[in-house]
Amino acid sequence: MSHACKLAAGNWKMNGLRANLDEARALAAAFPDPKCGILLCPPATLLATMRDALSGTAVMVGGQDCHAQSSGAHTGDISAGMLADAGARQVILGHSERRADHAETSAQVAAKASAAHAAGLVAIICIGETEAERDAGKTLDVVLSQLADSLPEGATSANTVIAYEPVWAIGTGRTPTIEQIAEVHDALRAALPDAGISLLYGGSVKPANAAEIFAITNVNGALVGGASLKAVDFGAIIAALEGAPD
Ligand code: 13P
Repeated sequence: MSHACKLAAGNWKMNGLRANLDEARALAAAFPDPKCGILLCPPATLLATMRDALSGTAVMVGGQDCHAQSSGAHTGDISAGMLADAGARQVILGHSERRADHAETSAQVAAKASAAHAAGLVAIICIGETEAERDAGKTLDVVLSQLADSLPEGATSANTVIAYEPVWAIGTGRTPTIEQIAEVHDALRAALPDAGISLLYGGSVKPANAAEIFAITNVNGALVGGASLKAVDFGAIIAALEGAPD
């Protein structure tokens, strides 16, 4: 049992136009006084408008990536300060899709997390093994070294969340067993410097499997992709988290 805060975070990835803000509004209306943190991370183009649409509600907004520098000649990139200025409270960093699509290293993720902290953002740092790494028995080695290399100096429960997302479970409808999730989360909890850092599970979390995942010790919430796009689905996952043991 840890003292980490519960968090349901939705990662919209490269999905979402202004018309989809109705889903964010519906979600906020369903949870006027939630018993856990609720976060939506839309594409950067929607961040400020979503923040305005959710003004006065309990739902926070966050970014999906930031640059390690605060400003400069980096065409197409976005700084942590810009995310904060647009209303973000958090930023997802080191998602496996960015590690794969943009060859991001854990050292770069740590630098981005430091930039996020300097801008007052909570860094949600993602780690997770590929299917080949799991099959080779390397899961714990991989996630613990990603954790060690991606965590910046000064990471605390106030500024950092860790998301364990097995790459093979993302968008596939496949999830690890309860025992496999517990094994990784227990190892991460033991390795973390601050017992209050929230540990999220991510990868094919749905209304149908959320409650059993949230019942696992050391799972403090979820990072949800596809099921976060619809208020009714994400709402069911949030309700499961609200009802989970602390
Ligand atoms: P899915 O929930 O669509 O599997 O995505 C998980 C994820 O990558 C969240 O960051």
